[in-house]
Amino acid sequence: MSKVLVEMQDVSLGYTEVPVLTGVNLKIRRGELVVIAGSSGCGKSTMLKGTIGLLPPSAGRVKLFGTDLEGLSEDRLTELRSRIGLLFQGGALLNSMTVAANVALPIEHHARLPAGAVEKLVRMKLALVGLEGHGHKLPSELSGGMRKRVALARAMALDPDLLLCDEPSAGLDPVTAADLDRLLLGLREAMQMSMMVVTHELSSIETIADRVVMVADGVVAFDGSLAEAKKSSLPSVRDFFARRATAPESAGRSMLERFQGEVKS
Ligand SMILES: Nc1ncnc2c1ncn2[C@@H]1O[C@H](COP(=O)(O)OP(=O)(O)OP(=O)(O)O)[C@@H](O)[C@H]1O
Ligand SMILES: [Mg+2]
Repeated sequence: MSKVLVEMQDVSLGYTEVPVLTGVNLKIRRGELVVIAGSSGCGKSTMLKGTIGLLPPSAGRVKLFGTDLEGLSEDRLTELRSRIGLLFQGGALLNSMTVAANVALPIEHHARLPAGAVEKLVRMKLALVGLEGHGHKLPSELSGGMRKRVALARAMALDPDLLLCDEPSAGLDPVTAADLDRLLLGLREAMQMSMMVVTHELSSIETIADRVVMVADGVVAFDGSLAEAKKSSLPSVRDFFARRATAPESAGRSMLERFQGEVKS
């Protein structure tokens, strides 16, 4: 059995005495790409916050890389979080800073490196997402798809073992969204990392998911393969995943090919 990076045992999460999620049991193993799906407001982002200890559970246990988060010192938590890349819902780049400065943020926060080394790392990460030469620009000078890739480069800055992406393709056109999906798959392949990706785009789910976890009515309603989800005995799960997908066939190949070329060279 491969290594478990995230483990939730009977976890409840919420912001008031009424929990948003209860009884969550979830394992993410090394190299796995797990999609978290469910309707708006069901608690997908809440689940990601619980995974990294931004939101402590009101019941149950959360283990990250085998370490129980309960009672951990802030230092130890920071150390564990340095192994996690975060792509926030909406991208959340700092608009007053250049692309390069945005990507450098987690490096400067977690690692003590000379400025030259930081610059070199930033250049490498931007190249990884096909944005070499754009470091000096401001986020506002980029397209929506490029901004997402900057956010991805920032999330990848410290070569994380686990990447959490909250609706990475929200607001992108289908072709650009498919580009981003292939980029995620390429990065997973190249870096051997695990990913939790929140999305409700069926075409994305079909492209990237090893496993799907569906959240509904405050619980994990389903956890298994997409093929199983489509045959689920629960109508809400079956209906959600059996919708017709319209994945653009040829989209995005160029960017992945470029990325693979860079990794090889
Ligand atoms: N900071 C907060 N304080 C109080 N309640 C919150 C907070 N963040 C989220 N909630 C509530 O928790 C519930 C789940 O929210 P969450 O953001 O996890 O949903 P989601 O599945 O990510 O939705 P979406 O698809 O729209 O992003 C919602 O009812 C929301 O109102
Ligand atoms: Mg959300």
